[in-house]
Amino acid sequence: MEPLRILGIETSCDETAAAVVENGNTILSNVISSQIALHAPYGGVFPELASRAHLEAIDTVVAQALSEAHVGLADLDAIAVTYGPGLPGSLLVGLNYAKGLALARNLPLVPVNHLEGHAYVHWLKTGAAGAADGKLEFPLLILIVSGGHTDLVLMRGHGQYEVLGSTLDDAAGEAFDKVARMLHLPYPGGPAIEQAAATGNPNAYDLPRARLPGSYNFSFSGLKTAVLRLVQPYGDKLRPRMVADLAASFQAAVTEVLAEKTAQAAQAFNVRAVLLSGGVSANTALRMAVRARMTVPVYTAPLALCTDNAAMIAACGTYRFQAGVRAGWDLDVEPGLRLA
Ligand code: KG4
Ligand code: ZN
Repeated sequence: MEPLRILGIETSCDETAAAVVENGNTILSNVISSQIALHAPYGGVFPELASRAHLEAIDTVVAQALSEAHVGLADLDAIAVTYGPGLPGSLLVGLNYAKGLALARNLPLVPVNHLEGHAYVHWLKTGAAGAADGKLEFPLLILIVSGGHTDLVLMRGHGQYEVLGSTLDDAAGEAFDKVARMLHLPYPGGPAIEQAAATGNPNAYDLPRARLPGSYNFSFSGLKTAVLRLVQPYGDKLRPRMVADLAASFQAAVTEVLAEKTAQAAQAFNVRAVLLSGGVSANTALRMAVRARMTVPVYTAPLALCTDNAAMIAACGTYRFQAGVRAGWDLDVEPGLRLA
């Protein structure tokens, strides 16, 4: 059988990414141009800067993805592109670029939901420790934790999702980024907090955990405010010990609640495995907290595939392509797109 090759394009937030994936599971190339340095002075993503940077990078990123995969546009079966959720201006750059390429080359265009993409990293073969590498049976439970999302999702089959719970306020990654700023740690906050926490005491501060009994929803705003109250009296004179202890205590509070709800849902729905996805799933404390509470396998992706990338969009696009999903030329971006 001829291999199925799909080019994925992703520009929903601050990474301009393109990748070629074969048969939905083999990464031929995975190119990411990160804007982290561009947004670092603002402590978060600055939307106007993001779309301009996508425009500047996309040609080169796509060309590099094709050349690293040793394929030309003529070797592709389709182009998969993220059309939401994300920043409207950023999404538009990728979608318009993909439309242009598909139209010029007479290739099918497959629309991909960014969140669904985060789930499909687990179908990619990576050989990494803890990775599922496609050995998956439904039903599955997916915890998607990123800068923009915190969703606990039951997946009964390809394309079949039930969102069991979401955050009522800040996304987990957003909480990491905001608390990092309070502690004068660099952006992005997740890795910075994880690093600071390594030398801190997770029991130093008894920070609030929003357990929200009877629901699978999350809330991190109370926790964030509690950290703010503790640091405010010190201004910019926070001692390194306090930073380390607060980072460790905050990380423990976030990961504990995420892990507890995930474990409850895994049991309630009798899932075959748990998948951790999104930028925050790079966090070692979270991985350990979830694994400690689970009897079924807990799969994680290698670090480069936890954060935004286009290989996951191409992998998801392959399943959608095989299911006959095609976008019309009138496809528009959907910044508030959800999983359903
Ligand atoms: O999935 P992602 O790249 O982008 C979104 O779709 O939002 O996730 C980025 C988020 C940021 O908030 C970042 O601080 C967080 O993931 N993150 C982490 C870690 N690495 C990245 N959070 C906690 N621990 C980490 N090691
Ligand atoms: Zn993402």
